[in-house]
Amino acid sequence: MTIFEKAADLLPAKGEIPEGIDLVEEINRMRREKNAIILAHYYQTGDIQDIADFLGDSLQLARAAEKTNADMIVFCGVHFMAETAKILNPAKKVVLPDLLAGCSLADSCTDEGLRKLKKKHPDAIVISYINCDSGVKAESDIIVTSSNAGHIINSLPEEQQIIFAPDRNLGRYINQVTGRSMILWDGACIVHEAFSLERIAQQMLDYPRAKLIAHPEARKPVLQVADYIGSTANLLDYVVKDSAEEFIVATEEGILHEMRKRAAGKKLIPALTADDKCNCSECHFMKLNTMEKLYLCMKYELPEILMDEEIRIKALRPINRMLELSKTIK
Ligand code: 13P
Ligand code: SF4
Repeated sequence: MTIFEKAADLLPAKGEIPEGIDLVEEINRMRREKNAIILAHYYQTGDIQDIADFLGDSLQLARAAEKTNADMIVFCGVHFMAETAKILNPAKKVVLPDLLAGCSLADSCTDEGLRKLKKKHPDAIVISYINCDSGVKAESDIIVTSSNAGHIINSLPEEQQIIFAPDRNLGRYINQVTGRSMILWDGACIVHEAFSLERIAQQMLDYPRAKLIAHPEARKPVLQVADYIGSTANLLDYVVKDSAEEFIVATEEGILHEMRKRAAGKKLIPALTADDKCNCSECHFMKLNTMEKLYLCMKYELPEILMDEEIRIKALRPINRMLELSKTIK
């Protein structure tokens, strides 16, 4: 039975939201009464981003989870992010509005598969992107995010052999910027891989003054033509600070909500994906969380993130190494 099948039992019952209820008011009341903190990733829907105590990218959210004094962490993001919060806070209750909010990238890598790869390369250390489950984290030496991967990898001796899991696109990009030859796990994000170079090239012709900005989970051909590559928080900063007035944004469309607030007046154009009939630049895992589920999750304090203590302790070590090695990163 997978964690998601087990999770079905933990999902709050449907249809229990009283008619006419003000969800924002109720969520605010429960947040106060339960001493809860709501952490949200930039890919959440705008209403969830607006109600969050803290909004950030993976690294910022991990740091916020490490620092909080709240009794309950309500994590509006995907499963691996809520798991990271639990690894850092074993004594706190960590809940996720929809336990089915997974990640294609995290799903591409298993602890068993990683152990096999480690056996083939006994001298290599394992650096894993934070988009992986606790079992994979437990098999890793250092965790990185897209904000600190280059910095952390550059701090290691040049001759150090490295296995990088699970994102082949981020891994290839980091190899390029650091001059390393890391051994790459063959995983990818379905959202970022969907961007179409051909259609983006047409957008660049349509908006000749626009700068193309991309998340490093995008494929190499898109990254090759990008004016700037960075994590969600870095992309946001770039849009706010750069003198350009127009940007084609190649990452999950949720980030546009905060970009519109912080860079009001600038033109933000979501990069196009190959399929013009789908909302492929929307992460459907992230969008499983809704205000209704957030309300139910705070009311019932379910579904809760639970974890084997042995795995948690093993997974904590590489996360702490990341936090230590990236202290100077914003
Ligand atoms: P960030 O670390 O940039 O927030 O990315 C998280 C993620 O899931 C990207 O798809
Ligand atoms: Fe995972 Fe991609 Fe969704 Fe990020 S956007 S959570 S990497 S599936």
